[in-house]
Amino acid sequence: MSVSIKSAREIELMRAAGKILAKVHENLGKELKEGMSTLEIDQLGEEIIQSYGCIPSFKNYNGYPASICVSVNDEVVHGIPTKKRLLVEGDIVSLDIGVIYKGYHSDAARTHGIGEISKEAALLIERTRQSFFEGIQYAKEGYHLHKISNAIAAYAESFGYGVVQDLVGHGIGTRLHEDPQIPNFTQKSRGVRLKAGMTLAIEPMINAGRFDVEWQNDNWTVVTQDGSLSAHYENTILITSGEPEILTLTESEAVSCG
Ligand code: MF3
Ligand code: CO
Repeated sequence: MSVSIKSAREIELMRAAGKILAKVHENLGKELKEGMSTLEIDQLGEEIIQSYGCIPSFKNYNGYPASICVSVNDEVVHGIPTKKRLLVEGDIVSLDIGVIYKGYHSDAARTHGIGEISKEAALLIERTRQSFFEGIQYAKEGYHLHKISNAIAAYAESFGYGVVQDLVGHGIGTRLHEDPQIPNFTQKSRGVRLKAGMTLAIEPMINAGRFDVEWQNDNWTVVTQDGSLSAHYENTILITSGEPEILTLTESEAVSCG
């Protein structure tokens, strides 16, 4: 395994890509409403990405047929947008978006509620977000990767949630998926030692019920086996000699983070 260390120039480009992706999420998140199809979300998202001079990195990635992954309720990740799926009040919708800016990738996910959602759903979304921040307390030069995984898992599991194991976070840069893999569940081995200049996509996927997932017949959509709700929260981050830099937050998210 070799984990790339980005140069100062590359870091600038990763920052620029991340800023744009934060804006894409902000703009698209505001448009979600009851009655909208998941295909409309994809089309609007693709337009927003292109308006910033970026390419949607998921499109055609390993044959993925859309620009954005839209996963509703018990869908964990990689939901394929379709005109048949209309959002209704109470749904929770995970948007996973990747952009390429001047050859550099950025990847981030957010879960939104449509109209009024259950208390259970709102807590799942908030705790999934918080699990990311618990993890990145250990995203520091000199620490080994397992500390991040273990912190995410310990936090999520303290609520009885299931931490998805079949999908993981990843290094990111000139490719969407680089080394290392970044599990969100408890690790036995300590993994790679973090160094300044590494850029990582950390993405807890948390189920309200058990951790088990399965793939639907489209070979993409991942759903919870027990039908429970699932939430996803992801940012692309930069390891520095001090605190990690989160590259995919909007200004208002950056103010209220942690
Ligand atoms: N955030 C996801 C990942 O890191 C998105 C990939 S979706 C795909 O794997 F369509 F591009 F495969
Ligand atoms: Co990712």
